[in-house]
Amino acid sequence: MIGKLNHVGVATPSIEDSVRLYRDMLGATDIGEKFSMPDQGVWVCFVNLPNAQIELIEPYDDASPIKNFLKTNPAGGQHHVCFEVEDILKTRDEMKAKGARVLGTGEPRIGAHGVPIIFLHPKDMGGVLVELMETPKGAH
Ligand code: CO
Repeated sequence: MIGKLNHVGVATPSIEDSVRLYRDMLGATDIGEKFSMPDQGVWVCFVNLPNAQIELIEPYDDASPIKNFLKTNPAGGQHHVCFEVEDILKTRDEMKAKGARVLGTGEPRIGAHGVPIIFLHPKDMGGVLVELMETPKGAH
């Protein structure tokens, strides 16, 4: 069963522009440095809020799925929501048993938080791309 909402993923054509929006317009004060995830071809930057994070994602590689998302949504937009789970493999198997499709190989990969993640097909999730991540050890 799902736990905390960890973050909302937001695709953006410019992390710098998005950081200005969250910092100057919305007043966020705790914003991390952007970092690269080479296997995904994206820059990532976390905006830390009291109860969750916004994960800003900017593609730099044409092969990145985020690139396609920005073709449809040139200004950027909400891309996915991420919930924490205790055991990613157990949850993955439960999701599959209940008929949800796991994207990619079906095997967890290491996400931006350094813990294993999977994505569930939006067509099985009411139109929402759902990321599940194992709760980071020591987070609670
Ligand atoms: Co995410």
